[in-house]
Amino acid sequence: MCGIVGYIGVKDSLNVLIDGLKRLEYRGYDSSGVSLLCKETGNIKTIKKAGKIKDLEDEFKKNKPCKSHAGIAHTRWATHGEPNDVNAHPHGDCFNKISIVHNGIIENYRSLKNYLAGKGHKFVSETDTEVLAHLIEHFYRKDLIDAVKKALLRVEGTYGIVVISSDHPDMLVAARKGSPLVIGRSDNEMFIASDASAIIAHTNQVLYMQDEDVAVLTKNDIELSKVESAKSIDPEFVEIEMTLSQIEKGGYDHFMLKEIFEQPESLRDTEVGRLDKENGTARLNGIKDYFKKLLDADRIVITACGTSWHASLIGKSLIETYTGIPVEVDYASEFRYRNPIITERTVVIVVSQSGETADTLAALREAKSKGASVLGICNVVGSSIARETDAGIYTHAGPEIGVASTKAFTAQVMAFALLAIGLGRKKLLSFEQGLSLINELEKIPGKVNEILHDKNKIESICRKTYKKKNFLYLGRGFNFPVALEGALKLKEISYIHAEGYPAAEMKHGPIALIDENMPALVIALKDSIYEKIISNIKEIKARKGYVIAIANKGDKEIKDIADDVIYIPETKEEFSPILSIIPLQLIAYKIAVMRGLDVDMPRNLAKSVTVE
Ligand code: F6R
Repeated sequence: MCGIVGYIGVKDSLNVLIDGLKRLEYRGYDSSGVSLLCKETGNIKTIKKAGKIKDLEDEFKKNKPCKSHAGIAHTRWATHGEPNDVNAHPHGDCFNKISIVHNGIIENYRSLKNYLAGKGHKFVSETDTEVLAHLIEHFYRKDLIDAVKKALLRVEGTYGIVVISSDHPDMLVAARKGSPLVIGRSDNEMFIASDASAIIAHTNQVLYMQDEDVAVLTKNDIELSKVESAKSIDPEFVEIEMTLSQIEKGGYDHFMLKEIFEQPESLRDTEVGRLDKENGTARLNGIKDYFKKLLDADRIVITACGTSWHASLIGKSLIETYTGIPVEVDYASEFRYRNPIITERTVVIVVSQSGETADTLAALREAKSKGASVLGICNVVGSSIARETDAGIYTHAGPEIGVASTKAFTAQVMAFALLAIGLGRKKLLSFEQGLSLINELEKIPGKVNEILHDKNKIESICRKTYKKKNFLYLGRGFNFPVALEGALKLKEISYIHAEGYPAAEMKHGPIALIDENMPALVIALKDSIYEKIISNIKEIKARKGYVIAIANKGDKEIKDIADDVIYIPETKEEFSPILSIIPLQLIAYKIAVMRGLDVDMPRNLAKSVTVE
């Protein structure tokens, strides 16, 4: 999604801004731009370009950048107006005195635009952001902060903005409502970005802006107040845990591959300090005050999007199996608009890697407004969802840069397993059962490692199939959501049409598609429904389908039925998704590479979808 970087200090601002933009590339974008406050002329110089940041850099080289120690920059993911040079940010006022970068959506931009056009303002782009630049100009009477605040009071929608003005070359003005902004402080310089990864190369001292905050940054100082009040607020900087090596590729060709291989470690990080062998349970301090609420709940409703929704489906089965509490799973985008039934005893769990997904955030707010207790399962510490939920479980998977989510998924399933065991011990699980589950969870990271380093047949399977146009993914029970997730991974990065289905549903329709050109990936583990899934495989083979099975080591029968088999270690049925997804992630990755595609930046996708 769109990315923001701002800088004020003593360094060459263009270098800092371009470097920051490159660190935000993973979020997905289609154009980019920079505005510099030029030292010698006192003017603002803006260059914007559709395409890659490299194209923007080339444009700056051609145009000789001015000397500058302050500026703003942006990567845009188009919402209002097509991705071209003109619609790219920053946007300016009529006289190039004000320049602004903006994440979010100004919902009432049409009426504001008509009003301002009536006053003689000239617009050049189709964007909502340009309207905000002119609105600030409209209110500007030599006081930039006042003009920004007045403009924001007229705006409906969401924003994270940074504004510069040639009349105020020594300050950046930033404000947030619904779109994250983080400020970084160092000696004689201040940074601001929509995502901490853009600034951690320079500082680990950060301040997460809160909704309605307005920040005025000079190179040595920060002044914080609210949109509706001039009263100053004490800025609270914290030390960020993220390190530079976590957001670099570390020798891997792609972030996605690095993150797939990080899973043994990220899963250990999710578990650490939470496996309580003495009591045969899981310890989740973040939600301890809400445990009773969860145990007394009439229903638990889990809501999320995309991959997090798939993890939630597994979470439902885990919680229901160990506790008997009914659980529903809803797409966050649907939950909000269907007037969900929430009673005083309903607990809502929102699940999000980024903690910034607009639909999930809106669902959270809807649940809260109806009086539900809302818990979160989040990866990004300090994110909007993490802050707005009543309590939560951090997955601690570390920064996920690859657009296709991998390690966040397995960490979410692990978090659900821990939650289900913790609750289950107060409901259906004995000490022995709890302990046996905890002991098995402890072995999971090692088993993931085994799969990753197994010289299995994934490479040759991908060679045989990477030119195919359609794939079917089948699984049952705990592994049905894995079929959905495997199909999503393939779609996202290889642009191959893939469908995930519960294996037995296949004969109610999709079986019509089966022929030798449609590979079927079937998760066929030695679990309670093994025999049933073997029958499903036979149904495919009888129609000349090509079957790739994910099976347990030691399963001899499957070799004679499936065309190719990828073996994984055994575990308890309910934890098997954490293992069965690994080959599917690798298959999606390798197929995309064989097709020559940009794995980390798939077309049209953004890492964190901050628009509804
Ligand atoms: C798929 C993917 C998306 C996200 C979805 C929710 O690989 O990354 O489907 O899972 O956009 O994002 P979060 O979890 O950040 O709320």
